[in-house]
Amino acid sequence: MPLVTTTEMFKKAYDGGYAIGAFNVNNMEIVQGITEACRETKSPVILQVSKGARAYANHTYLVKLVEAALLECPEIPIALHLDHGPDFETCKACIDGGFTSVMIDGSSKSFEDNIALTRQVVDYAHDHGVVVEAELGVLAGIEDDVRVSAEDSSYTKPEEVEEFVSRTGCDSLAIAIGTSHGAYKFKPGTDPHLRFDVLHEIEKKLPGFPIVLHGASSVPQEFVAMINKYGGNMPGAIGVPEDQLREAARSAVCKINIDSDIRLAMTATIRQFLAEHPDKFDPREYLKPARQAVKDMVHHKIVDVLGSDNRI
Ligand code: G3H
Ligand code: 13P
Ligand code: ZN
Repeated sequence: MPLVTTTEMFKKAYDGGYAIGAFNVNNMEIVQGITEACRETKSPVILQVSKGARAYANHTYLVKLVEAALLECPEIPIALHLDHGPDFETCKACIDGGFTSVMIDGSSKSFEDNIALTRQVVDYAHDHGVVVEAELGVLAGIEDDVRVSAEDSSYTKPEEVEEFVSRTGCDSLAIAIGTSHGAYKFKPGTDPHLRFDVLHEIEKKLPGFPIVLHGASSVPQEFVAMINKYGGNMPGAIGVPEDQLREAARSAVCKINIDSDIRLAMTATIRQFLAEHPDKFDPREYLKPARQAVKDMVHHKIVDVLGSDNRI
């Protein structure tokens, strides 16, 4: 089937008490690993592309890789989404260039400026049959070249969400409830927990409306240990416990973004392979197990965290 928007996916996910995985794609092996896992588990999926991914791999290459996945996996609903669109121009380029969904990330702006920018993107996107994710509240961590410290992050204010959604016309809303980007989400020794009270307040204000969680990697400790064993150095890398994400997926959260876990799985696998085979130099030999690690990771997320298996 052709690329789809997220409208139908989110409606089913909301009603069914599960979430759609949104996985970042940067190269062929990642696209293949993710979509093969989705085909095996019969799961819809959102493939998302950041500004950094477009700078690294080039817009056309990424779109064509996703088109190849559509041909290989015709039974899987796939949406192609711009992750953290920084401005109107980038959103427009993706809307004009074949994406079915864009995020405009105005979360660092004032409430009024975020609304104005989001409204501008929504008007253009909706005229072209594309849906829009907006963000209210500020996550900690690193996304593209922007670093936000824990002190500068702030939870989404439930009292603002109705006005924001009605004035912007956005189709889904990313909120800040304690997740953050990257591999260092919580301080070692602290008890990582999401603010479900904030999420439930927001759900009450926006009945039936799809909520998005960014920064939702769990940073599996076996991969951190593998990276550290084979020459890496990632002390204190900690993610969101998967049982909390499973709980979020049962609520109004219809889209859960996972990128760092895929990066960790690939890097750990490549480090191990090269350490154990110091004579090998063919990239296919180490990218093959890395692609398998992506597939295994996505399979696990779909079945054990998102609950999106057997939903097509
Ligand atoms: O939130 C950001 C995603 O993990 C994408 O990361 O900007 O390094 O491509 P990136
Ligand atoms: P992680 O860094 O937790 O994987 O978050 C990814 C993300 O939110 C992409 O937008
Ligand atoms: Zn994000």
